[in-house]
Amino acid sequence: MQKIIIFNSLILILIFLIFYFYSKKNSDNDFTYPFSKEEYYIEDNLERYLKYYEQNQKKSFSDIVREINCNLDYQFYNGVERSNPLDKILILVNKHYTLDKDFEGFDLVKVDDKYAYYDKEYYMNQEAYEKFVKMWQDANLAGCDFGIYSAYRSYERQVFLYNNYVTVDGAEKADTYSARAGSSEHQTGLAIDLKSRTKKTDYFETTEEYDWLLKNSYKYGFILRYKEDKEYLTGYQFEPWHYRYCGVDCATYIYENDITYEEYYEYFIKNK
Ligand code: DAL
Ligand code: ZN
Repeated sequence: MQKIIIFNSLILILIFLIFYFYSKKNSDNDFTYPFSKEEYYIEDNLERYLKYYEQNQKKSFSDIVREINCNLDYQFYNGVERSNPLDKILILVNKHYTLDKDFEGFDLVKVDDKYAYYDKEYYMNQEAYEKFVKMWQDANLAGCDFGIYSAYRSYERQVFLYNNYVTVDGAEKADTYSARAGSSEHQTGLAIDLKSRTKKTDYFETTEEYDWLLKNSYKYGFILRYKEDKEYLTGYQFEPWHYRYCGVDCATYIYENDITYEEYYEYFIKNK
């Protein structure tokens, strides 16, 4: 009889322990679960998702993942890291990742005068330039014509430009459209600004060139870098003229999934 009581007690204790550990495991998972099922979930960011969620409980889980992956829990120009030149054409340069003063782009080549909007010398990364030429030729066959009016810019040039904008508009406004030195993609040689040569206008988005590029640039590895509805992620207002080379695979993914380069970089490059 005593043996039966001991046996039954052991069974009960065992059932209790199984139940206890099972529910503990599930309650631990409750925290990670809503985030971990998100498409761009990055495990290393979990604590930051949770903290951000506490402060922003009305946001959806996918918005929290997106915003933390874009480092929005840090103010722009705070918590800055160095951009990684080893990423080459996939380098991220923005208000959280900045370039050294001495960084002078890589594999720069001179742009043929034929593609220059003004009578000036422009330089670009060689691979980006070769793809640009192909893109320009195909656009030309489709009746479009555009020229480059800014390409590689040195750190010093960016200091000059940004300071000028601050004098005209004040720092707060200048920060919405101009990068502080070290934070401009133009310093990599991978970014270009374009103007239409079929329609004289400051509103590139009203041109057929803009429409063509929007639909086709990814095939040549270029992305529209600062989109209209993504200012809060990129830190810059809509720039219909600014294209960034990141290679065909990257540009195609970004085009098809409508994400920013910030999101792409954190998930596919830094996270791997
Ligand atoms: N206008 C872009 C953001 C730059 O200054 O690099
Ligand atoms: Zn630009």
